Amino acid sequence: MRLVLLGPPGVGKGTQAARLGLRFGVPHVSTGEMFREALSQKTPLGMEAQKYMDAGKLVPDDITIGLVRERLSRPGVSSGFILDGFPRNLVQARALEDVLRDLGAALDAAVSIEAGTETVVRRLSGRRQCRRCGAVYHVEFNPPSEPGRCPKCGGELYQRDDDREETVRERLRVYMAETEPVIEFYRQRGLLVSVDGERDIDEVTQSIISALKEGNAVEESVSDGDS
Ligand code: AP5
Ligand code: ZN
Repeated sequence: MRLVLLGPPGVGKGTQAARLGLRFGVPHVSTGEMFREALSQKTPLGMEAQKYMDAGKLVPDDITIGLVRERLSRPGVSSGFILDGFPRNLVQARALEDVLRDLGAALDAAVSIEAGTETVVRRLSGRRQCRRCGAVYHVEFNPPSEPGRCPKCGGELYQRDDDREETVRERLRVYMAETEPVIEFYRQRGLLVSVDGERDIDEVTQSIISALKEGNAVEESVSDGDS
């Protein structure tokens, strides 16, 4: 299973990618997480990316594409991946085609999760993430059992710097200007699957799996069992 997840900041790409990764037994590959991890380790890549992330801008394509090419070339992703946060503009979308062609692989689908601005702003403002394991919660919609503590690993929950109001506004602007055209790119290639992201977390997961089955991206043998 090779999927790309598209959608505005805060729509639930990371949340759904983690679930789909478990469901299909393939890794969740998130460029945002790769940058945040590099930043927490204070590597040169992390320090460079931080300038753009804090401003709500895209990290330059050469850096991001190189990172994804390297990640998708590792053995752990040979049977598939759920790509979250990439591609984010048309240059990256074409680069992904090149990377996959070089690997002799192809995408099964590009899933666009759709929700209005009011919904995504509410989701971003209540998001909390674990510093240790990266798990994502929401103070209202997916609350941890103990406030401020990760139920999975006991790590501290924090609010992302780029979830401040003015940065969120810029991320949404960048999304509309640069990332929305990527949806049309995949529509033209017959790979686009759109789902309603306004519903609750379980319902969105279910509708993605159903839509993939309808589009024959999921084989029946894989779709049997829990979902
Ligand atoms: P990135 O980390 O990719 O951020 P993003 O695309 O803005 O997406 P988010 O992580 O904010 O949201 P999400 O859709 O994953 O939502 P989540 O599941 O967390 O990128 C960050 C930055 O890195 C970029 O701004 C850029 O600078 C850089 N970058 C990354 N990739 C790049 C690239 N390819 N090129 C250049 N630069 C790049 O959910 C949000 C909240 O809502 C959570 O609290 C969750 O619990 C809750 N929630 C989720 N689903 C639901 C639901 N159905 N109902 C109720 N609540 C829900
Ligand atoms: Zn944790």
